[in-house]
Amino acid sequence: MKFTVGIGLLGCGTVGAKVADRLQGEHDALERRAGTHYELRAVAIRSIQKQRPRSLDPHLFTCDARSIVDDPDVDVLIECIGGTNEAAEFVERALDRGRHVITANKDLIATQGPRLQALAAARGVTLRFEAAVASAIPIVRTLDEALAGDDIISVAGVVSGTCTSVLSMMEEGADYAEALSEAQRAGFAEADPSNDVDGIDAAHKLALLVQLAFGLAVISPRIRRTGIAGITRRDVARARMLGQRIRLVAAATRTVDGARAEVSPVLLPENHSFAQTAGVENVVRIFARDAGVLELRGTGAGGTASASAVLGDFVSVLRGIGEGRDIARRRRTNTLEPAIAVNPLFTSLTRSSDLPQYPLWDDNLTDTPAAHALLAL
Ligand SMILES: NC(=O)c1ccc[n+]([C@@H]2O[C@H](COP(=O)([O-])OP(=O)(O)OC[C@H]3O[C@@H](n4cnc5c(N)ncnc54)[C@H](OP(=O)(O)O)[C@@H]3O)[C@@H](O)[C@H]2O)c1
Repeated sequence: MKFTVGIGLLGCGTVGAKVADRLQGEHDALERRAGTHYELRAVAIRSIQKQRPRSLDPHLFTCDARSIVDDPDVDVLIECIGGTNEAAEFVERALDRGRHVITANKDLIATQGPRLQALAAARGVTLRFEAAVASAIPIVRTLDEALAGDDIISVAGVVSGTCTSVLSMMEEGADYAEALSEAQRAGFAEADPSNDVDGIDAAHKLALLVQLAFGLAVISPRIRRTGIAGITRRDVARARMLGQRIRLVAAATRTVDGARAEVSPVLLPENHSFAQTAGVENVVRIFARDAGVLELRGTGAGGTASASAVLGDFVSVLRGIGEGRDIARRRRTNTLEPAIAVNPLFTSLTRSSDLPQYPLWDDNLTDTPAAHALLAL
């Protein structure tokens, strides 16, 4: 270990504070795993008044995020501020200046990922975002590395912990408004919950899954979504009487000229693995031509779980730097193909006669003879 990699961190909130705390508190252990010395050079925040982790020297903090991005001694930038405006500017600027970037920002990658990936590839640096899809669940690496030699037919799952929390509470008898306030009190929903309950967050994650699984430049505004705000306590109770649960499902399948993708509340048999999610638990099912059906489940939100994913990317990037490898990722997302058609997926599902407003989930939707025929083309 001869040289020191400079680290800049943007954001010290739910995710950033955990990342910073572990970068400092577990410095020696992380260095051993990475095989490279590193130094956290600065942390950008908005307000100097807030309390920060005690492991962090106050001198590390700055309200000038741009000074970190422009610091020639910062080799790796970790972006944990969120949003799509300033975060986009900082990430783009960092990539352009030849820094490797690790981000937890699904909104950013789901809306501007293809452009940023192309910039990273052009500058010979890497852009990693494992925490952006389903937090601790290693879905990005599974699709991008473990399944790189396979063809993905479909991805589907329950990826909104906020919606699952609200729906689980409604199963206990709460109405929608009560369940939402309870989820906000418990920290499962934000003060402005619209991003989650309107399905926007799930559509962002689905866009990332489509990019990774199919290598298609699909951004989230192209995906049809329906949120959970229209679901009533009566709907949830009626579903339970029929042996079913309602969950917000995000699913996509490959087609000849693009993808079919959609986010919507669907009815699931209560013993289905998607129906058995609770709280912030996420589940993602991948159907690959040769590997068959794979399912990953785990904690889909929260600072500690998300920091685990960010630090996984961090160790991986530092190992590459330490070994002198070219770590610019040759991933499906570096060469995304345009998707001519992005059509809704759930139109082909049948409707329950008791609850006709909800599609009835069918596993065959994501494992059809047509999908096999497509891959044989
Ligand atoms: N929370 C989760 O469970 C979770 C899970 C997976 C992915 N993510 C993603 O992780 C990212 C961060 O989420 P979070 O929940 O940690 O957000 P957060 O708690 O709101 O933290 C945001 C942090 O960024 C700082 N910040 C915002 N704008 C800034 C600017 N212009 N310059 C400098 N600092 C700035 C804030 O400073 P102050 O502290 O001074 O306000 C705060 O420390 C988001 O992209 C989110 O989607 C979150």
